[in-house]
Amino acid sequence: MTTLLETTASASVRRATKRSYLMCRPDHFTVAYAINPFMHPGEPTDTGLAIRQWEILKGTYRSLGHDVDLLDPVPGLIDMVFAANGGFTLNNRAFVASFTYSQRQAEALSFQAWFGTNGFETHAATAVNEGEGDFAFVGGVILAGHGFRSSLASHDDLRRVFGCEVLSLRLVDERFYHLDVALTVLDSEATEGPARIAYLPGAFDDESRAALASRFPDSILVSEAEAAILALNSVSDGRNVVVAQDAHDYINDLAAAGYTPVPVDLSELLKSGGGVKCVTQELRR
Ligand code: ARG
Repeated sequence: MTTLLETTASASVRRATKRSYLMCRPDHFTVAYAINPFMHPGEPTDTGLAIRQWEILKGTYRSLGHDVDLLDPVPGLIDMVFAANGGFTLNNRAFVASFTYSQRQAEALSFQAWFGTNGFETHAATAVNEGEGDFAFVGGVILAGHGFRSSLASHDDLRRVFGCEVLSLRLVDERFYHLDVALTVLDSEATEGPARIAYLPGAFDDESRAALASRFPDSILVSEAEAAILALNSVSDGRNVVVAQDAHDYINDLAAAGYTPVPVDLSELLKSGGGVKCVTQELRR
């Protein structure tokens, strides 16, 4: 329970910082194969609706004052809208993804080229990894998921490329197959106060859960039901949290903790197992 006083106190310290995001318009979006439990290739998808919902999200970021860069979509690469998976950047270095499934592997070439022509020092992967789908930066540490997509070996790549601490977290529930559907970074560097996250404890094994509980005692915990509609696949700038509109409890908890929830509808992309964060790669220059 958050008391009114705590709410007022915390609200006063939430501060947004300007972000830079990479996105890819879902021009070729559909569901034609199943590589996660959300995907049902027999069911209809509406590419036009996916584009409209995505355009609203892009406009939301811009109206919050953030930069949005765009990667050209490639015909046939139906999951390319999920730009978070293409790499992970920090200090102007880009670590390029090496996708788990053959259907998505060609995407890496586009991301690599984009990083290279947009001022990043690019670093190739030696092990399977899906970029910001599984890697998150918080308080000087990279939280790194493994278990379904990114390999544990890719965490050594992160250490080599970025030279910072990497905390490996094991995902154990196939519905939460990427770290970014099980955990959100709310305050990455925390302009004031400690770094803060939200997560679903049940998505992690015992050891990872214990590590999260001891490092982030002040976290928002999200229910399994809301995590299953990708509530945790949200994007925070330190104050504004862009989040799935149906995640009512999480939205209330964010507001009580002093954040400003910004609800959006990405129902069409949910059919592929993706949400707000999946379509948004943060660029850290
Ligand atoms: N259909 C895509 C896949 O299974 C969805 C990716 C979602 N991206 C994410 N960052 N969780 O690869």
